Amino acid sequence: MLHENEINSIKQNIEEEISSCKDMKGLILVKSKFIGKEGILNAYLKKYLKNSELSNENKKSIGFEINQLKDFFNLFYRKKISAFQNKQIPTDQIDYSIPVSSAIGNLHPLSLSKEYIHKIMQEMGFIYEDGPSIEKEYYNFDALNISKNHPARNEKDTFFINDDVLRTHTTAVQIRALESQKYVDEFRIYSIGDVYRRDDDSTHLPMFHQIEGFIIDNSASISTLKGFLLDFLKKFFEKDDVEIRLRPGYFPFTEPSVEVDVKFENGKWLEILGAGMIRKNILSKYGYKKGFAFGIGLERITMIKFGITNIHDLTDNHYPWLKQYGNSTEN
Ligand code: DAH
Repeated sequence: MLHENEINSIKQNIEEEISSCKDMKGLILVKSKFIGKEGILNAYLKKYLKNSELSNENKKSIGFEINQLKDFFNLFYRKKISAFQNKQIPTDQIDYSIPVSSAIGNLHPLSLSKEYIHKIMQEMGFIYEDGPSIEKEYYNFDALNISKNHPARNEKDTFFINDDVLRTHTTAVQIRALESQKYVDEFRIYSIGDVYRRDDDSTHLPMFHQIEGFIIDNSASISTLKGFLLDFLKKFFEKDDVEIRLRPGYFPFTEPSVEVDVKFENGKWLEILGAGMIRKNILSKYGYKKGFAFGIGLERITMIKFGITNIHDLTDNHYPWLKQYGNSTEN
């Protein structure tokens, strides 16, 4: 056993040395002086363990006492760190005359687009619904008629996490909203969120965003769908002369399904979304009769709106590039 005087004098040294530290640098030096590998406490331990005159019992209790001293050190050490962290800069040391930068940054084009879409959708009577990014296979696939052996469920296309998946589309939110039974008769729901696919090349990102929307309405038809999409795109692109065309498509959850192209100034058609009449087997399961749905890639329509040609510009975090989109938040 260590002598009581010995223990007390070590404790006193610890307290004194820690409290006289002025900064973190000094504190770290004190730490290694006391509890570092070559520090005072380990030196004690070694000295006693080597002493062949001491019984094993005695060595054990000395080991225990040294550990208690280490705990004692750590207690004061942590207190000192919080004291450093809480230290306020004295007001007479703050220079209020230093000019503040007026460049406070601006919203990313994807955020601008997203805000814009929220505004348009809400004006058009849509209610926002959300779902998890890590989704059950049931909502992402099964409930949408995507069978077990469908190629999209392949490990090469989808990220699996234990029994779940990183959702591959926001259409999963459609099922969650219908299943919740929160809505009756006629209603409009939309969602915007992150989606994931095993794609990573010059025109694809492994994580991107989609807007999913659907309208449950007894008079819904392909022509009301077309009228709605035209209205939406006119608002989004902020021009009246938007031209679209519907081509037949295939999605397991809509029938008929369409792919929608928009015409550009140069006369070229660009595919921008998928849509269709929600399949009867999906609707009837939750007691609904008729409706249409659509899914839009946020990156895609943002690139078109802002004239961005390289999808990787959206994720490169290149400040001068980002700065050109919206100086609205700078003062
Ligand atoms: N989920 C589809 C995709 O990721 C997009 C889509 C197509 C959504 C048709 C829909 C729809 O709601 O009706 O490619």
